[in-house]
Amino acid sequence: MKNFKGRTAFVTGGASGLGLGIAKAFAKAGMNIVIADFRQEAIDAALPIFKENGWPAHGIRLDVTDREAYVKAADEAEAVFGNIHILVNNAGIGLMEGKIWEASYDDIDFALEINYKSVLNGIKTILPRILKHGEEGWVVSTASKNGLIPLGGMVLYNATKRAVMATMETVAIDLKGTNVGASVFCPGPFHTNLNTTTDQIRVKHLGQPFNKKGPTPDPDAPKFDRSKIDMSNMERDPDEAGERVLRGIMRGDLFILTHAEWKKGWMEHADAVTRAIPDEVPNEDFMLVFSRNVGNPIYNKQQQVPAYHMGDVFKELEE
Ligand SMILES: NC(=O)c1ccc[n+]([C@@H]2O[C@H](COP(=O)([O-])OP(=O)(O)OC[C@H]3O[C@@H](n4cnc5c(N)ncnc54)[C@H](O)[C@@H]3O)[C@@H](O)[C@H]2O)c1
Repeated sequence: MKNFKGRTAFVTGGASGLGLGIAKAFAKAGMNIVIADFRQEAIDAALPIFKENGWPAHGIRLDVTDREAYVKAADEAEAVFGNIHILVNNAGIGLMEGKIWEASYDDIDFALEINYKSVLNGIKTILPRILKHGEEGWVVSTASKNGLIPLGGMVLYNATKRAVMATMETVAIDLKGTNVGASVFCPGPFHTNLNTTTDQIRVKHLGQPFNKKGPTPDPDAPKFDRSKIDMSNMERDPDEAGERVLRGIMRGDLFILTHAEWKKGWMEHADAVTRAIPDEVPNEDFMLVFSRNVGNPIYNKQQQVPAYHMGDVFKELEE
């Protein structure tokens, strides 16, 4: 997608953290922004940023797990700005339940509702509207580095984020031949309000705050001296995430990632799966019948992503 001016983006969880970073980058690219967020106070704090910059923005209080409210929110967005062009399924929470066999069923259901089923709610509510008006569009959903490489003590987070990845890869396949594309955003650590908002949302859904037990300490993990590490460097600015997402959509990337540090872990993971494939001669007929399990052009289309420097995407937009 190349043209953003005057188009409209619907950003869930857009009042804080990565969603706000994404909303700001889109607004800077000339889009109208709908911030759909569970927390009215966060919407009230975010909207002045847009007003001060002269960026058109509208806030809607929405719990993305509420399907009826989602339809009303989409209607409201269209009433304010007309057609929606980009859906950002970004609202989500942190989950560190500890060992999954010790987690409650409430934790399990809550995780699936907010971190996975809400993404489907967004796709079902808004994607048909984007396809119907026929103008260029995009759907991007926020997964996580944990969807690529799981951490112990976080089954629900890892699994819901991997589910978001599989969903967006499949949506990209199913959107072939349309002028709507799809990406999955897998960020590494960013400085956001995730723990605080998770508490607030968990209290509303389950009546109690964050169940933060994990990640489970791994006895095999390399040891290091924490006093020698600059911990302030461990979490990046959400504005950077926003610019990377905007650039990913401009480039047509299926996967939008943020941290080069994850390459080694992902390759270890991919290599392990590759080595687990039996060393047998493949049946050519089988490969033809199941051709789309054997390969899909959506993966070959993904080009190497160059290094990013803040502001690059806006220079590219001007060119
Ligand atoms: N912060 C990180 O390091 C990081 C890393 C990887 C992935 N993520 C993912 O990024 C996404 C955004 O999180 P963030 O880190 O920016 O946190 P954040 O808490 O700063 O922002 C999330 C926003 O989503 C909203 N939200 C949560 N549940 C909602 C619901 N049911 N309905 C509507 N709005 C809801 C919150 O009110 C909040 O404003 C999440 O999906 C999270 O899992 C974050």
